[in-house]
Amino acid sequence: GIMREISGIAVMEQALSRKLGIRQAIIVSGNSDESPWVKQELGRATAMCMKARLKGKNIIAVTGGSTMAAVAEMLTPDLAERDWLFVPARGGIGEDVKNQANTICAKMADHTDSRHRVLYVPDQVSKEMYESIIKEPNIKEVITQIKSASMVLHGIGDAITMAERRKTSEEDLEKIKHAKAVGESFGYYFNEGGEVVHKVQTIGLQLDDLSHIEHVIAVAGGSSKAKAITAYMKRAPSSTILVTDEGAAKQLLKG
Ligand code: F6P
Repeated sequence: GIMREISGIAVMEQALSRKLGIRQAIIVSGNSDESPWVKQELGRATAMCMKARLKGKNIIAVTGGSTMAAVAEMLTPDLAERDWLFVPARGGIGEDVKNQANTICAKMADHTDSRHRVLYVPDQVSKEMYESIIKEPNIKEVITQIKSASMVLHGIGDAITMAERRKTSEEDLEKIKHAKAVGESFGYYFNEGGEVVHKVQTIGLQLDDLSHIEHVIAVAGGSSKAKAITAYMKRAPSSTILVTDEGAAKQLLKG
């Protein structure tokens, strides 16, 4: 019956958070690799988690990707009484417009009647250009806001899938493959041991900043992401909450 199924999921959630060494795991049914609607369920679960954890005025830093885009779709105006500001976690890291953090933040703000900021940093810039961009008062202000976020919402992806989706240079792609990267998050590529083997150079949130942020919510589902999730969680702050699906969870608990 349904109660058995619910308690089955609760047992899996416990086992998974323990295995990954993180604060909490939330598992929705299905496998997003097979059924696209499962991403909406990940979005719904994330929205509930945000609602439960955030009171009053908050800055929420957000990364890009199709999962984060699904989270944006599931946010509703009843969250709007809370005074939220959405900021992109990092500058341009090569995604298509619909998957960019800027676009997703705008949508999240729109759906919750709250505010957002943008961070326009070109993907490939010279060192001189980069140095002058980060001196821009507007950019500086957004970076300060990012660093004072009380929540980070982020995706996790398979390393090669991400490197290819971002049209990474041939040279960097070789480097990523050669180093046996399996996972990616925030523009950092990780090997199975959770070591950073490559990093996209951009401004905004750095991996080390995560430990200063109260709520860190990773949203990633689909059995194909199991290796990536395992790798990243070796580096993730132990305060991390993972919102995932059964497809990934079953695979994660096997390994
Ligand atoms: O590029 C932004 C990003 O959040 C990556 O860090 C992550 O690997 C990827 O998107 C996840 O994308 P998706 O949700 O489409 O699998």
